[in-house]
Amino acid sequence: IGVPQKISEHQALDVLMEGLRRLEYRGYDSAGVATVADGQIQARKKSGKLANLIAEIEAQPLTPASVGIGHTRWATHGGPTDQNAHPHYGDEGKLAVIHNGIIENFAPLKQKLDAADESFDSQTDTEVAAKLIGQAFQQTGDLTEAMRQAVNELEGAFTLLAVHADQPDRVVAARRNSPLVVGLGEDENFLGSDVSGFIDFTREAVELEQDQIVTITTDDVAIINFDGSPAEGKRFHVDWDAAAAEKDGYDTFMEKEINDQPKAVEDTLLGRTDASGRLILDELRIDAEELKGIAKIIVLACGTAAYAGMVAKYAIEHWTRIPVEVELAHEFRYRDPIIDENTLIVSVSQSGETMDTLMAVRYAKEQGARTLAICNTNGSTIPRESDAVLYTHAGPEIAVASTKAFLAQITAAYLLGLYLAQLRGQMFTGEIQDILADLHKIPGKIQQILDNADQIKDLARAMADSPSVLFLGRHVGYPVAMEGALKLKELAYIHAEGFAAGELKHGPIALIEDGQPVFVVVPSPRGRDSLHGKVVSNIQEVRARGANAITVAEEGDDSVTEFSSTVFFVPETQPLLMPLLATVPLQIFACALASEKGYDVDQPRNLAKSVTVE
Ligand code: G6P
Repeated sequence: IGVPQKISEHQALDVLMEGLRRLEYRGYDSAGVATVADGQIQARKKSGKLANLIAEIEAQPLTPASVGIGHTRWATHGGPTDQNAHPHYGDEGKLAVIHNGIIENFAPLKQKLDAADESFDSQTDTEVAAKLIGQAFQQTGDLTEAMRQAVNELEGAFTLLAVHADQPDRVVAARRNSPLVVGLGEDENFLGSDVSGFIDFTREAVELEQDQIVTITTDDVAIINFDGSPAEGKRFHVDWDAAAAEKDGYDTFMEKEINDQPKAVEDTLLGRTDASGRLILDELRIDAEELKGIAKIIVLACGTAAYAGMVAKYAIEHWTRIPVEVELAHEFRYRDPIIDENTLIVSVSQSGETMDTLMAVRYAKEQGARTLAICNTNGSTIPRESDAVLYTHAGPEIAVASTKAFLAQITAAYLLGLYLAQLRGQMFTGEIQDILADLHKIPGKIQQILDNADQIKDLARAMADSPSVLFLGRHVGYPVAMEGALKLKELAYIHAEGFAAGELKHGPIALIEDGQPVFVVVPSPRGRDSLHGKVVSNIQEVRARGANAITVAEEGDDSVTEFSSTVFFVPETQPLLMPLLATVPLQIFACALASEKGYDVDQPRNLAKSVTVE
């Protein structure tokens, strides 16, 4: 985050600390600030969470200032120490720089700088950039030009922000592949990795393109390309306010966001049909004829979003008969995938900034594919670089482990599947309307689960000492099981694995011993073929080997009660829509168990919300 503003309005430090508080979910190994006052750079930095930096500043206060930069770090090069925390300095301490991303050619650059007798205080790649900008400033006397010369020597991904004591009225920033947005205020302007960094001060923002440099002062925002030519950003209005990114009375963002889920699904469904009940996805930006010609869909995503992609595969294939592959984005582009102009790439990303996903989308585009992003963040890079976008309207998600964005992604994937089926005439309008009507009932049903969460929380507290938990599911219950296991790993640091229930007998069953907890996602007894019966058999198989089966089943499905130590009943819905309900008890379980163990559920160890490195 970076801010120059009129001192009468806000203190730079207050704005920075507020912004860092809101951006801390992006990384929390260490934090630091630098401001420019009395012709000098003053900085404080500290390893650990933001609270440590706050204590450091209280112990050693800063002179009031109107220009500053601040950073919260997720360590890549160099461990999370005070020294490696940002900012880093150049030009004999007159320049301060913060950085997101990885500078890939930092080793040869460092050698050159070493040879020129620069000395380094940290193990970071960032410090190399700081020294380069510093040297260029000594020659040019202008921070924008110094930044421009330096970034042209850098390879990799970076957002760099710099302030210099000799030009105390400005912050200069450059971006290549890492996120950066500009916030427009009255007599003050802002920079942030995302809009939440300045949402307390303005909702007017500007998107930048790749390879651009922006210089902000109190009353001006000037953008140029890396070659020096002038450029213009694209303005947008942020459609949520600061209150939407607060805990709203809950102890944690995670609990708030789990409880936000009825609204997240409802808002994602909102306004997607016309008066006659036909689906309209105006924002898609891809020609209907082109969509009709799609021969294959490949869904690309990472983490929780990839499980939403797995659900998408079941639904879209069933409704449209278009073959759908799902692949982790970071694996996809290294396997020489078969793509052509009739391939539709559907990327799924809450942040729209996940580097692995972005790179996979770019690769697919180069190969001629059409690209569509399912994304929760307006103005982020992946939707901007895609041919089409379908926004989920989950609102800002702050807790690092995804919950409401996941349900919103699944909802959007259903809409996409139904829309393609409508376009291609594969389903009757009435059929589509029936599914949409059931989708519209989902928020109320999620609310029922939330209203009856005590049973789940009690079980979580009782199971806090479990060393390992397994999750089984079939069909759309399989990604739900994977997501249940991921949540437990992320939040409670418990060894947890999700399996396709049918795969159990091919290996994982060897793990089962007396008392092993196994969650089983049971499909609806009204579902296809004998799926339900098969899962009930799988429950018997694990029980026969001593497992303690905990089931998530449809209300009224009494067949599982006698085989389960606990059953969480979820309201009935169409079998394909079941993940929107069955996931919720598993989220509540992981969150309650982690809280019982005293862990920070919003900021689990080692993780970051937007992983903007590959
Ligand atoms: C990180 C987060 C996960 C998230 C994944 C994908 O790993 O810790 O919670 O699912 O990134 O994020 P995206 O923003 O692309 O959905």
